[in-house]
Amino acid sequence: MTAPRQIRVNAFDMNCPTHLVAGTWRDPESRASEYKDLAYWTDLARTCERGLMDGIFIADVLGVYDVFGGSPDGALRGGAQVPVNDPALVVPAMAAVTEHLGFGITASTSFEHPYTFARRMSTLDHLTKGRVGWNIVTSYLESGARNIGLDAQVRHDNRYDIADEYMEVLYKLWEGSWEDDAVVADPARNLYADPEKVHPIEHDGTYFKVPGIHLSEPSPQRTPLLYQAGQSNRGKRFAAEHAEAVFMGAPRPEILRANVDDLRGRLVDAGRDPHDIRVFSSFSVVVAPSAAEAEEKRERYRALIDPEGTLVLWSGWLGYDLEPYDLDEPLRHVPNEAMQSTNEIFGDGRWTVRDFVEGLGFGADGPSATGDPAAVADQIEDWIDTTGADGINLNHVVTQQSYVDFVDLVVPELQRRGRYRTTYEEGTLRDKFFGRGSRLPDTHRAARHRRHPAGAPA
Ligand SMILES: Cc1cc2nc3c(=O)[nH]c(=O)nc-3n(C[C@H](O)[C@H](O)[C@H](O)COP(=O)(O)O)c2cc1C
Repeated sequence: MTAPRQIRVNAFDMNCPTHLVAGTWRDPESRASEYKDLAYWTDLARTCERGLMDGIFIADVLGVYDVFGGSPDGALRGGAQVPVNDPALVVPAMAAVTEHLGFGITASTSFEHPYTFARRMSTLDHLTKGRVGWNIVTSYLESGARNIGLDAQVRHDNRYDIADEYMEVLYKLWEGSWEDDAVVADPARNLYADPEKVHPIEHDGTYFKVPGIHLSEPSPQRTPLLYQAGQSNRGKRFAAEHAEAVFMGAPRPEILRANVDDLRGRLVDAGRDPHDIRVFSSFSVVVAPSAAEAEEKRERYRALIDPEGTLVLWSGWLGYDLEPYDLDEPLRHVPNEAMQSTNEIFGDGRWTVRDFVEGLGFGADGPSATGDPAAVADQIEDWIDTTGADGINLNHVVTQQSYVDFVDLVVPELQRRGRYRTTYEEGTLRDKFFGRGSRLPDTHRAARHRRHPAGAPA
């Protein structure tokens, strides 16, 4: 008999007061408004490592949610992903108080040049000793595009074309520019790096020109662990070619199952193993020692849900204004340049604004389980087993209480069932994910940019 599949867990947070569940920042236990303090992040990191989680994944947007009512006022009132600070800068502090926890940083291929971004990620990979991952996003907020000087957001599929070239530039910098033995650091020879072994990448493409060398010396993973979250047709094609982990949001198991199966099939088409990608699916939990206490807690949280903040977020994701909708009016699929897959999933005529405000309010784009530890563990196991996902991306309802409750109550229950690790694997984040070393495998497209020791392209 084969052992039951281990369930992976990432904590999902954002460097702002309201990430996904609007209104609960007002709960007396919430630490949401402490997001500006290092202690918030170091405490969170310690909790997640105590719970043997794979990592903390920090979402990010550059731009404000101004689709609802055509203004950013609602977002500002609810702290809905604004004010928002840089996700990368909190990582070194968290790394300093942990040993194994991974850090997934979201950054967009649409807003920053790959040359500068490559150095920032290499720096983090050095400082964390190979525990950093990158959530590759192409962005969806029109306001972000305008504030970096574009007249309008680049079209959805074209953003992925640009992202493809962005990745090629990064692979050349991370994998190809410095040979493994380029750093000599020999005081006797007065030689830090051997210039013969550091190569200009000479990239001259459609969107980017980068002639020179990478600024950082090779870090433990070189390329950070690559996460991605697009579920559109074009998004999944991109994932199959680049990603090692994906985030998927789905309100029903059959939707997730179809996306997981589709993605695994595309991996094979791209010459990779169907399990070369770990799938994390959005999930939230309200748990307490007894079912009655959990219900009580859920009711307390539910009373805090802020309808305006909720619709601010959903309008931004869907790319159209929900303000004119009646509570019970079914949503439609409104083609636009924002999140295509989310727009399709929730535009099938079965969802209303009331669902967002009353039901989905807790889970954002995924399910939400309430109950005692056994009931919640049952629901997580069931979700993982019916969908084929590898793990969950744990959305908080109240930060940091949702994570503390999960670690104290759900983790031991999953461990008892043999569905959760009892100790960390050794090595870098990539090692912990796949157990085959710190570097991308030779089957990944990045590998073609590696060099032989002699310096010729491999
Ligand atoms: C769990 C999850 C987390 C995401 N986090 C971010 C994020 O932090 N920043 C961002 O710009 N987009 C984020 N996205 C959105 C995706 O990058 C993408 O736009 C979305 O899934 C729609 O994909 P599509 O445009 O290929 O349909 C996230 C999506 C999911 C499912």
